[in-house]
Amino acid sequence: MTEPGRRVTYMDLPRQFADGEVVRRVAEEFSRCRFVLGPQVAEFESRFARLCGAAHAVGLNSGTDALFLALKALGAGAGDEVITVPNSFVATAGAIVMAGATPVFVDVNAEYLMDPAGLEDAITPRTRAIIPVHLTGNPADMDAVGAVASRHRLAVIEDAAQAVGASIGSRRVGSIGEAGAFSLFPLKNLGVAGDGGMLTTNSAAVADRVRLLRHHGLRNRDEVEVFGYNSRLDTLQAIVGDAVLAGVEQVAETRIRHAQLYDRALAPLAPHVIVPPRRAGVRQVFHTYVVQVEARDRLMPFLESRGVETKIHYPIPIHLQKAAESLGYKRGSFPVCEAQTGRILSLPVHEYLTDDDLEYVVAQLMEFYPR
Ligand SMILES: Cc1ncc(COP(=O)(O)O)c(C=O)c1O
Repeated sequence: MTEPGRRVTYMDLPRQFADGEVVRRVAEEFSRCRFVLGPQVAEFESRFARLCGAAHAVGLNSGTDALFLALKALGAGAGDEVITVPNSFVATAGAIVMAGATPVFVDVNAEYLMDPAGLEDAITPRTRAIIPVHLTGNPADMDAVGAVASRHRLAVIEDAAQAVGASIGSRRVGSIGEAGAFSLFPLKNLGVAGDGGMLTTNSAAVADRVRLLRHHGLRNRDEVEVFGYNSRLDTLQAIVGDAVLAGVEQVAETRIRHAQLYDRALAPLAPHVIVPPRRAGVRQVFHTYVVQVEARDRLMPFLESRGVETKIHYPIPIHLQKAAESLGYKRGSFPVCEAQTGRILSLPVHEYLTDDDLEYVVAQLMEFYPR
């Protein structure tokens, strides 16, 4: 079933702002110009904290800085090791390096998440913190990670950049570890019109420290308590974020429904196509819908020729990047991650797709893998 001219795009950002409402709210601020730490930042923070069930949220200029400032606030720095996973976006490891610490990787499980079984072996006397990544919008096993962390007195920072609204039982991500780091990058489920990030925490001390650090260490207009950074969330981005936040539960529900449709329709294609594994009691919000496929090198151009846009998150694991050479890993260091890297494919799952779009994608896959 080929339909010439048919496009199923990976994302559709312009649709998000098409009704003009967000632009109108942003434009209004130009008559007041409270561009830095305007009152809308605190309003957005408190709504974001509520969304995550966390006591505090602090608006920052990126998800990367949310990870970096969480590490700083929790005292991780030079000489320390921080454990994370090699299949994340590079910023997870990059933030550890920014803080002056050394990233240490552990392999992942079939859900693309930190495998807690590998954690104990990775811990050394220098280990300071663990950063599990809720990759694809699927929460990592926080109970198992937390149990190891508390045995060794390590902080847990959730990389929730892809997972706003995800939960384990009644606990939302960002409220489980010592801190949660969210990205508001435009492609995320809660994206703004540029860079932005949010740190969540239940600790008043951590929130206070990060508020200081994001604003040059200034306790008030004139007094500097510590040397800090410039990492504030812009007022205009807070206005956008607040508007997007109002619809974020609906975005998650729509993506979950799309994922269920794919799950059902693609199941007969196993083992050529393996749908994302699920755990009971977990709300997975599908920032990405990642399948494992055979013959990906041929499948991607085939889908493209049929107008279906797909992506790979991510084609080269962090431990095999040039930037990571000095860490001493090699091909074979993380066999599960590496095997997945050669097979993963992100299908379009965004909230503006119609059932017809999803069925069109499924039909192309059916045609590619004759049964
Ligand atoms: C898993 C993960 N961690 C960290 C980041 C960094 O976030 P940002 O791009 O907002 O700095 C991203 C997003 O790009 C991400 O996907």
